This record gives sequence, C-alpha cells and structure tokens, in this order.
Amino acid sequence: SRPYNVLAMESSCDDSAVCLIDRLESGPKLVDHRKSTLNSAKEGGIIPIDALAHHLQQLAPLVQSMLEENGRPKIDLVCATQGPGMFSSLAAGLQVAKGLAVAYNVPLIPVHHMLGHLLTPRFFTNGQSPTYPFLSLLVSGGHTMLVLSASVTSHRVLVDTIDIAVGNAVDKCARSLGLVGNMLGKELDEFCRTGDVAQIPDDLNFPLPLEKRAAASSLAFSFAHYASIMPRVSKKFALDPLEEQPEEIRRAIGKRLQADIFHHISRKTTRALNQLVEDGVIPKTQSIDFVCAGGVAANSVLRSTLETLKSPVPLKLHFPHLEWCTDNALMIGWAGIEMYEAGIKNSGMAAVPLAKWP
Ligand code: KG4
Ligand code: ZN
Repeated sequence: SRPYNVLAMESSCDDSAVCLIDRLESGPKLVDHRKSTLNSAKEGGIIPIDALAHHLQQLAPLVQSMLEENGRPKIDLVCATQGPGMFSSLAAGLQVAKGLAVAYNVPLIPVHHMLGHLLTPRFFTNGQSPTYPFLSLLVSGGHTMLVLSASVTSHRVLVDTIDIAVGNAVDKCARSLGLVGNMLGKELDEFCRTGDVAQIPDDLNFPLPLEKRAAASSLAFSFAHYASIMPRVSKKFALDPLEEQPEEIRRAIGKRLQADIFHHISRKTTRALNQLVEDGVIPKTQSIDFVCAGGVAANSVLRSTLETLKSPVPLKLHFPHLEWCTDNALMIGWAGIEMYEAGIKNSGMAAVPLAKWP
C-alpha cells in the first residue's frame, strides 16, 4: 500500500540510468535520478562489449551514491529493464537489480523498455495525463510504431516499420551529412535549426515510401531508403561527397530530409486514425490522448508536424519533456509501478534478458 519507495534502473543500450521514486497517495514523486552515457562518438556506433563494461563500471556506484545522498531510504520495490535491447547491457542491469531485491527482500519488476517510453507521460500528473485508451507514437533508435493501449497489459501495434527504425535512419543520415556525436538525431535537429541554409533544387525530395498503388493503403512505416539514398545525394549535384559540401548545402539537405521523414510518419498516422474511426474502435465525437515518446520524440520538426496532423478526431498531444524522451530510469520505475499496482506480482528473480521482445 502507498506510500512506498521505488528504485529503478535502465541499461538496455548505452545509458546507465538509476532513479528513486516516492510513490505517494497523491501521485508519484521523483526523488532523484542519475545517468551516465557511454561515449561512443569516436567509434561511430555502440559496441556491445564496451556498453557492458560501461554498465559494470557505472551502475552499482550510481545506485550507491544515490542511496547515500538521499539518506538511505527504505526500498519497497525494484524495477529494471528486461528488454528489448542489447543482451549484455540488459543482463548487467538485471543482475544489479536482482541483488538489490534480494538484499531488501522486495519484489523485482522486469519492465519492457517500450512500455516505459509509452507510459512516461502518465507519470506527470498535472491533471492532464493520458488516460486509457490512448494512442502512442513510439519513435526511437530501435522502434517506430503506433500503438493503441487499452490498459497497462493490453497494447495493439497499429503501424510498425517494415525495415529499420526512424532513429536508426536519422542517425545514419546525420553521419552521411558529416555530423558527429553520441546522439546524432539531436545533432541533426540542432544543425538544421541554426545557421544559413542554401538554395537546393526543389526536386531534391526524398521519395515517400509505401505510397504507390497497393502500398498506399498499407499501415506500415519504412525508413531504410532514407539512409541508403543519402550517400547518393551528392551525385545529384555532381559534386564532392556529401560530408565535404559547404555547411549551408548540408543544412538544406538535412532540413528536406527531416521534413520528408516526418511527413511520411504523419501520413501513415493519419491513415491509421481514419481506419480506427472507420472500424468504430475510437469514437469520432470524442478526443483521444496521443503520446509521442522515445528518443526521436525530442525532434522539433516531428513535434510541429504532429501539431498540425490531419486527424478525423481531435488529438490531445502529449510530449514528454526532452529529458524524459531519451532513455532514462524514471520511465522504467513508472511502468513498474503501473504493473505492480495492476497486480502483476510475478517475481523477476529468474528473469533473463530479452534482446528481442515484441
Ligand atoms: O529512446 P532512445 O534514447 O533509445 C532507444 O531506445 O533507441 O532513442 C535514441 C534515438 C537515437 O536514434 C537518437 O539519435 C534519437 O533517438 N534522437 C533524436 C533526437 N534526440 C534523440 N532524433 C531526432 N531528433 C532529436 N532531437
Ligand atoms: Zn529507448
């Protein structure tokens, strides 16, 4: 029964993240959170064994200092990411979590990473948090899906990607444009927002995927071609390699690319919404909560695109604060709380990482 204290951690990829949540009767309160991200800008990608070493070095000391600096609170529930993600990274977090759950003699809730992303806006109880049933557009490095959630345990994937995830495509394109960094999507977003933009030919639009003939009615995303087209874009100008182009040209191409990628997402989302109304799944007369979460939800162009989305029903948009879009422990703690309070009390003590988890 409330109040109770939750210790949560997330380690599915390259972020070691931990947090403390006070589950009060009046709502959840974030007591503390800490995060340490593996620096892999030089490698141009995350190497699993490096990520594992990072979690092994970082997680336990993060937990230790967080507990110490918060007066060693009594812990009543431990939550950790079980998947999907890198097997070794997940294993590192789960093992720390199991040790803590054994020591405190409390339950361990293993959490689906994407459930964490999609439930995040429900943590922030400003009277406006999304209520079931609600829709979520999950956009991250590993996922691109539109989901209809009826309860904490009931989620229908309405649209999924047939190839790579949008974050993956965005990262590859950013690299083709000569950008470097840990969070390439963020670099691209910022690069496109600041500085001069060259004039480029109007016909330099990236062909919209899945719009021809039968595919036009399909409820699917596709992003692979954005990544594969990029290295060929400079040929269109009969110029030097893309990454050697002046900044203004690269910025113009980046802007076009972002506009086109997010236009594709909004077209397919509109199509799915129309379908839901036609099928009577969501009533036309009521507005519906619409969450946009996951790392790419931090993107400024995506945010403005969704704000002007053509929808047959009024949408109440929810974007987590930028800090809670990318991977963090709060989302795992909150999803664990929702699961726990829904009566999912199966012990996570024998949980094995699920690298792939539909
Ligand atoms: O959710 P997340 O932190 O990790 C996964 O679960 O994948 O998402 C990371 C992805 C990366 O592809 C990153 O480049 C992208 O989110 N990202 C962005 C932005 N910030 C992060 N993509 C576009 N615009 C941003 N502002
Ligand atoms: Zn994520």
